[in-house]
Amino acid sequence: MTKIEKYKSILPQISAVMDNNVDIIANMANMAAMLHENFGFWWTGFYRVMNNELVLGPFQGPLACTRIAYGRGVCGTAWKERRTIVVPDVEEFPGHIACSAASRSEIVVPIMQNGEVIAVLDIDSENLATFDQTDAEYLQQMVSMLV
Ligand code: SME
Repeated sequence: MTKIEKYKSILPQISAVMDNNVDIIANMANMAAMLHENFGFWWTGFYRVMNNELVLGPFQGPLACTRIAYGRGVCGTAWKERRTIVVPDVEEFPGHIACSAASRSEIVVPIMQNGEVIAVLDIDSENLATFDQTDAEYLQQMVSMLV
């Protein structure tokens, strides 16, 4: 199955389990689980904006740093610049926060509500250059289901 086929098959499955009557945490938890299991990423999870910093939310994979400051690392930069950031090689990204030495490439997608970033989706891969514009587009579509 190609990456696009995987996204096309998983999107309706994720949409089916999103429940607009529950806290966003519950939906983030299922989204992280389904993405992680289907794609076999190294780390798949969310950081939420709380008291002007990013705080670890639901995730799948090894333990991660609990808090990230505004503008720090890939996550804090995606928050500050309000855009999806694709990092083909984490060693080439100045200020990358290495929660795990195994992570080689990364994508961070901000989640917007009323013009504000309320959280980010962060996915790490053990391989270089795992993510591209295709991932960015599908993941943006996916996280829009959370708000
Ligand atoms: N690498 C991220 C930190 C979060 S962990 O990858 C889960 C960053 O630079 O923001």
